[in-house]
Amino acid sequence: MEVFDAVVKRRSIRIFKEKPVDYAALQRCVEAARLAPSAMNSQLCEYVIVDDKQLLVEILDSVALWGGVPKPAGGWSLEKKPVAYIVVLINLELEKERGCGRSNAFLDIGLAMENMVLVAMEQGIGTCIMTGIDKKGVGEIINIPKKFEVAAMLALGYPDEKIVLETTFHSVKRWVDEEGVRHVPKRKIEDILHRNKFE
Ligand SMILES: Cc1cc2nc3c(=O)[nH]c(=O)nc-3n(C[C@H](O)[C@H](O)[C@H](O)COP(=O)(O)O)c2cc1C
Repeated sequence: MEVFDAVVKRRSIRIFKEKPVDYAALQRCVEAARLAPSAMNSQLCEYVIVDDKQLLVEILDSVALWGGVPKPAGGWSLEKKPVAYIVVLINLELEKERGCGRSNAFLDIGLAMENMVLVAMEQGIGTCIMTGIDKKGVGEIINIPKKFEVAAMLALGYPDEKIVLETTFHSVKRWVDEEGVRHVPKRKIEDILHRNKFE
């Protein structure tokens, strides 16, 4: 698949088939993250692949926002939820030692995550980048040593939802229609692209 086509086709997936994803496929995503650009080549990120059934349930419970919907009082239904997560960690010792700065570290994280998203997609796996999570709670569930901090998480699984792009006029609000199709508005190119300088 052409890179541009992949970028057009990629959408955040939040409804998944029950089918598990092979560990090797998840490892391939982390391999793509490993090779991502990194400010000052500092490479502060480390990754935890979570595919254990009990841990999946615990991690799901730490999700605060799922497609803009806050966690219900009774918790999330376990149906059609991610079959794996890749938790992205910042190594705080390396951060101190290599000092590329937090804003650069978060750019690194974004780039590493997009690499994982695209390589997952190439393997037919859907993903959703997640920061609307209880990061401390996730760290406790996976028992991270003190030198790490949870930065974000990638939810993964085989897609089981239909999503269409919309051109937004004034709202970035996403919606799901009566047929269960998720609509994702994007700003128009003429509204976001500028050339050379502002008048
Ligand atoms: C940094 C970042 C954090 C995100 N956090 C969440 C999240 O916590 N929960 C969620 O359901 N989606 C999350 N998303 C997915 C966005 O909601 C999604 O990218 C956006 O709605 C646009 O849809 P698209 O990815 O299909 O283009 C996150 C995306 C990014 C880039």
